[in-house]
Amino acid sequence: MRIAQENLGEVCLIDVVPGMAKGKSFDLDDCRNILNVPYQIEGTEDINQVKGSQVVVITAGLARKPGMTREDLLSKNSRILKEICEKVKVLAPDSIVIIVTNPLDAMTYYAVKILGFDRRKVFGMGVTLDGSRFANIISRELKVPVNKIQPVVIGSHGESMLPMPRFTMVGSFPLTEFAKDPAKIAMLVKKTVERGKEIVALFGSGSAYFAPSAAIASLVSAIIRDKRIPLGVSAQLNGEYGLEDICCGVPCVIGEQGIVKIVELDLNPQEKKNFLESVEAIRNLNALLK
Ligand code: LAC
Repeated sequence: MRIAQENLGEVCLIDVVPGMAKGKSFDLDDCRNILNVPYQIEGTEDINQVKGSQVVVITAGLARKPGMTREDLLSKNSRILKEICEKVKVLAPDSIVIIVTNPLDAMTYYAVKILGFDRRKVFGMGVTLDGSRFANIISRELKVPVNKIQPVVIGSHGESMLPMPRFTMVGSFPLTEFAKDPAKIAMLVKKTVERGKEIVALFGSGSAYFAPSAAIASLVSAIIRDKRIPLGVSAQLNGEYGLEDICCGVPCVIGEQGIVKIVELDLNPQEKKNFLESVEAIRNLNALLK
């Protein structure tokens, strides 16, 4: 919906559930007159329709149920992802692929391997969303306009994610200087880490979708409009941060080519330690992938 509404290009929804994508596409098509945006949208069960796509967003897979972590989804979702990536590799070899399926960083790593595309062209939407949540929680708790906050979250889009108070700007101050009170900052971080889980518990089934969709649309927009703006994504590291053979959340510059640049933050020893722990948690999941 957001991608169509922003007029970022023709949208094709694909879902294995019979009729679902087509029904949603009709419903969305019927908004065009009211919104006065003449977008093109269609829906199908046929994965072959992915052919020739410029950007492919993969959200397929089971969502969390209350009490589940994102990590619990690994075995089922990796099978689904594999099947899709094998098709995308053949049908849309020039596409940029955005992974949304959880557990996000392991699924992104798996997709990179299966697709075999340049690493700049496959990345995960994880910390993009966590950053927006962090900014929102800061805005609500500290009563700051939300557009004055530039959040930074790195590491896994999972239990060990790392909202970064020292790199998150509130106006022209780092959060650490703006809020000062370490207990308050710790509370903001904790709320951010638990936000997805909180929403899953409230829904009872399924996970968040409005903020994830906004995060996805921001990435697609950065690509289509070649914005070259910093956004957090799960990127494959190849020497950055001294790490290799891993996908995890880091700030990146996103443009027409996908990842234009991976930004290396100057982490202090404690931040580095936390980051390595988060990376280790992802590596443990990657080891379970076949
Ligand atoms: C969440 C899911 C999309 O964080 O991972 O809500």
